[in-house]
Amino acid sequence: MIREFSQISLSRRNSFGVEQRAARLVEFDDAQDLHTFFSRGIPSRWMVLSGGNNILFTKDYEGTLLTPVGRGITPLEEAGDKFRVRVEAGVEWDDLVAWAVNRDLWGIENLSLIPGKAGAAPVQNIGAYGREASHVIRSVEVYDVEHDQCRMIPAAECRFGYRESIFKHELKGRVIITAIEIELSHTPEPHLDYGDVQREVEARGGASLRTIREAICTIREGKLPDPKVTGNAGSFFKNPIVDDRVVEHLKALHPDMPTYPTSLPGHTKIAAGWLIDRSGLKGYHAGHVGVHHRQALVLVNLGGATGGEVIAFARFVQQRVKETFGIDIATEVNII
Ligand code: EPU
Repeated sequence: MIREFSQISLSRRNSFGVEQRAARLVEFDDAQDLHTFFSRGIPSRWMVLSGGNNILFTKDYEGTLLTPVGRGITPLEEAGDKFRVRVEAGVEWDDLVAWAVNRDLWGIENLSLIPGKAGAAPVQNIGAYGREASHVIRSVEVYDVEHDQCRMIPAAECRFGYRESIFKHELKGRVIITAIEIELSHTPEPHLDYGDVQREVEARGGASLRTIREAICTIREGKLPDPKVTGNAGSFFKNPIVDDRVVEHLKALHPDMPTYPTSLPGHTKIAAGWLIDRSGLKGYHAGHVGVHHRQALVLVNLGGATGGEVIAFARFVQQRVKETFGIDIATEVNII
């Protein structure tokens, strides 16, 4: 069923907690609701607002926001050790991880505690601790606004990359994700090779779904601010993917600079958090906005920040990193 709101405050609907308003917001359960809504006519301006965890409103939104609230998790089929599940867009991602871990299903445990909803997971291909949503997503169910129809997009057509997908590009503003289909496995497949994961898992008696989930939750809680307490949108910037020649040069100057391999030949990913930290900005704040004191990739609303202030502060951070290292860091957060 559709629920409509006019002139609604977004402060509780964006994890940054900025005080902006939307002219209209429509909550929907499924594709049928979207059909009902769009058959009245396509609004001149609309977009999806999911959990609001990766978005920064810099002004009031003079259009219609569409928010998925369907929360069904439906097992589809079991073949051998594989288990296919349909997850509606409004399911909290971490509720899905807990659901899988409780059923002894492997595949998303490393993605524990990522804030946001399942429908947003394919958009920026959420990832953490060496795993990405694209490793389990088999297809994405969308409502195609222009053609007023539901269709399935197989994972191979989603153009998943590092915090990238077709939903940020060609399909932006054309489709609305209503559900995802993921494939989990009964066969244990621990991925412990990122940062402190191995150590935290060993400290809990070795790798099991439960210990991995606990380890990841502990690592995240130790570094990342809880958006319910301190407004933030997780990593504000992406880790830049840089030409190997530039990386070699920087490595010679800073041998401790963390780097990660990428699928792009001749290129390496650099930790933007380290770049910001080493630019002297960790814990720095100005006005109502700051760089988090334990993870420099995260910008925080210290209370009462407007979206405009956050974006101005972000530009300052980008400029400082550019001056210090000659590297451009792009925003990961969707700026509206
Ligand atoms: N680092 C610093 N100082 C800092 C922050 C980081 O020196 O203030 C160093 C760390 O010591 C480490 C490296 O930078 O050697 C990477 O840090 P971390 O492991 O915390 O990960 P990240 O690259 O900063 C990415 C994701 C996170 C994800 C973590 C763990 C992006 C943009 N961010 O952060 O995802 O949780 O890896 O996998 O890729 C998010 O997207 O919102 C997010 C939180």
